[in-house]
Amino acid sequence: MPERITIADAAKHVDEVVEIPGWLYNLRKSGKIVFPILRDGTGLLQCVALKNELPEEVFESLKHLTQESSLIVRGKLRAEARAPGGFEMDISGVEILQRVSEEDPYPITPKEHGVEFLMDHRHLWLRSQRQHAIIRVRHAIIKAVRDYFDGHGFTLVDTPIFTPAACEGTTTLFEANYFDDEKAYLTQSGQLYNEANAMAFGKVYCFGPTFRAEKSKTRRHLTEFWMVEPEMAFADLEEIKRVAEEMVIYVVGRVLESKREELKVLERDVTKLEKVTSPFPRLSYDEAVKNLQQHGSEIQWGSDFGGGDETILTQQFETPIMVDRFPTVIKAFYMAPDPVRPEVALGVDVLAPEGYGEIIGGGQRIHDPELLLRRIEEHNLPKEAFDWYIDLRKYGTVPHGGFGMGIERCVAWICGLEHVRETIAFPRMLYRLRP
Ligand code: 4AD
Ligand code: MG
Repeated sequence: MPERITIADAAKHVDEVVEIPGWLYNLRKSGKIVFPILRDGTGLLQCVALKNELPEEVFESLKHLTQESSLIVRGKLRAEARAPGGFEMDISGVEILQRVSEEDPYPITPKEHGVEFLMDHRHLWLRSQRQHAIIRVRHAIIKAVRDYFDGHGFTLVDTPIFTPAACEGTTTLFEANYFDDEKAYLTQSGQLYNEANAMAFGKVYCFGPTFRAEKSKTRRHLTEFWMVEPEMAFADLEEIKRVAEEMVIYVVGRVLESKREELKVLERDVTKLEKVTSPFPRLSYDEAVKNLQQHGSEIQWGSDFGGGDETILTQQFETPIMVDRFPTVIKAFYMAPDPVRPEVALGVDVLAPEGYGEIIGGGQRIHDPELLLRRIEEHNLPKEAFDWYIDLRKYGTVPHGGFGMGIERCVAWICGLEHVRETIAFPRMLYRLRP
């Protein structure tokens, strides 16, 4: 029996007879030759089947095989510079596992399909080359993020998904029924628990799904997204910015190192990514507002950036930028006010270039117990739910902070995608819960 391999390993088996299981991606025919292209999840392999060298029924079954039928091909691998991937197989045998019926053919064909159709068929759309490339870049980004924190003294401490209170404001909470009529909310961020973990471990990160009942139908919003959140005891805003910059540069570098092929499939202009180097320009919110007004935005001091504002701002720079010291009133209850200017908070957003906008939000947390209590009241938050959080300020409080990076926004930017819906296998959005 020939050895079973994957297409990704073809280079190690040149001039050997092997077998590869997969799906029929495409089929070209010309008289006495058919060229099935096999897909196995690791790559594409062009195969060559000659009528004269195969039993009649084997050749005929291949010749009429339908897209996405599952099969095992056997044959000798050859180096072939002109073939996609650089190898070709001369088929000597085929086993068809399932032939997709002509009556009910695979719905996604090489012709153009509308976005809604593709989203309805997301479970199949994932087999396309472009989707494949995006998900592989996503994997590389997540791996790089983890490697960065693992390599810089952070302990992974994951945080709960069912929570009794809001973290990022009460307007975007998903409610769930817990037991005995108790309400629980799907977490918007692991940050508050991360703060407890940081007081226990010093430097921590959590990495998991987070939920926002966002009624906004934009190219940047999902209702379920993955966020990595580092949190550091004894860190001030400058240190938080330093870590955010270093991590982003590391992640982009790792993707450039390992995912060139995928970026090529996505037609990503990698020269743009190669410019992501230190230092990222640093602007205060005040400066950003002035800049925006000069570029025609209607923004007034005191309001948050709109998506359009982020686009205007980031199109002026080649690297991500860091905007800090937003008005305290528009930020979450836990944000530390600037001691010399309390109307602004020690928070920072990192905005990606090319119009992608906010990928990271974070900053220094209030560590003074009295001020924290006041803020919880001002924000009408239920004090009982925060007793444990207030404890962190009673027992050895220290300046601390961290940030959260939304993985899907980061993938959209690095892959150069128009919309976050393609950055996750099964996106959850305002009007999309299926498949
Ligand atoms: O700015 P946000 O709301 O910050 C926090 O949640 C902090 N508690 C994080 C922290 O300091 N530990 O969200 C952080 C990031 C955003 O910059 C964005 O990348 C992403 O999470 N994000 C979303 N991504 C997709 N869809 C949404 N609806 C998102 N909301 C936030
Ligand atoms: Mg934010």
